[in-house]
Amino acid sequence: MPAGDGPVIRLENVHKTYDLGEIQVHALRGVSLEIKRGEFVAVMGASGSGKSTLMNILGCLDRPTKGRYFLDGTDVSQFSKVELARIRNRKLGFVFQQFNLLSRTSALENVELPTVYAGIPQAEREKRARESLERVGLSDRADHHPSQLSGGQQQRVAIARALVNLDILQRLNDEEGLTVVIVTHEADISLYGKRALEFRDGRIKRDSLTQKRLIAKDVLPTLPALSDSDEEEDTPATASAPDKAPAD
Ligand SMILES: Nc1ncnc2c1ncn2[C@@H]1O[C@H](COP(=O)(O)OP(=O)(O)OP(=O)(O)O)[C@@H](O)[C@H]1O
Ligand SMILES: [Mg+2]
Repeated sequence: MPAGDGPVIRLENVHKTYDLGEIQVHALRGVSLEIKRGEFVAVMGASGSGKSTLMNILGCLDRPTKGRYFLDGTDVSQFSKVELARIRNRKLGFVFQQFNLLSRTSALENVELPTVYAGIPQAEREKRARESLERVGLSDRADHHPSQLSGGQQQRVAIARALVNLDILQRLNDEEGLTVVIVTHEADISLYGKRALEFRDGRIKRDSLTQKRLIAKDVLPTLPALSDSDEEEDTPATASAPDKAPAD
């Protein structure tokens, strides 16, 4: 991507305070950070440590209370909502992943979902999603909704989805030099990134390079080949259970 040599993201002593009238919540307490073009950063930290607050600011969905945010060299910390929306559309992409599977959506579509956001052609999306369902031993359940799967099978669909997701982000990063920042609670997931940031109480507590980076497309084939006989099931998985109340 032809642009300046400077960092894509630069935060200077960023604070974010949520004003709830009686009390103020200091979600970020002086965060300074540089992320260069082509980095792949995993943001970690306990619940409430400020990860989403940081991402909202990085994603131009919210502004710092104090401090400065330079996105590709432009100071956006005082931008209006309209200006933020404009720069967001030009420079940023988002993938949201809920832990829960969408209840009214087939296993195949659940796995495919993240790739919809990444702008990958339909045929390619379906191919990758089918391959990864096969890896976790669920080819024959591709058309089932989560309520028609056992608990263990649902978990495997979620694993397949996470790996497809990571594979796509890694390819965009490696092949197209896209800068990627992800949030995760899982130390395992952070190993797919090149750099890990750990937050605690609104501050960066640790900033380290990942030693042995995992590659999603290499990990998929190594997943233990689970078969349904490995889990106890109280109902036959082929029974077409009615769609339960949505969990999403
Ligand atoms: N809109 C808001 N109004 C008030 N307080 C908020 C708001 N959003 C977040 N907070 C508070 O700011 C702090 C940081 O929240 P944040 O959502 O950034 O944490 P997080 O690291 O993303 O946590 P989690 O892992 O649970 O998603 C928390 O104490 C939270 O309660
Ligand atoms: Mg969060």
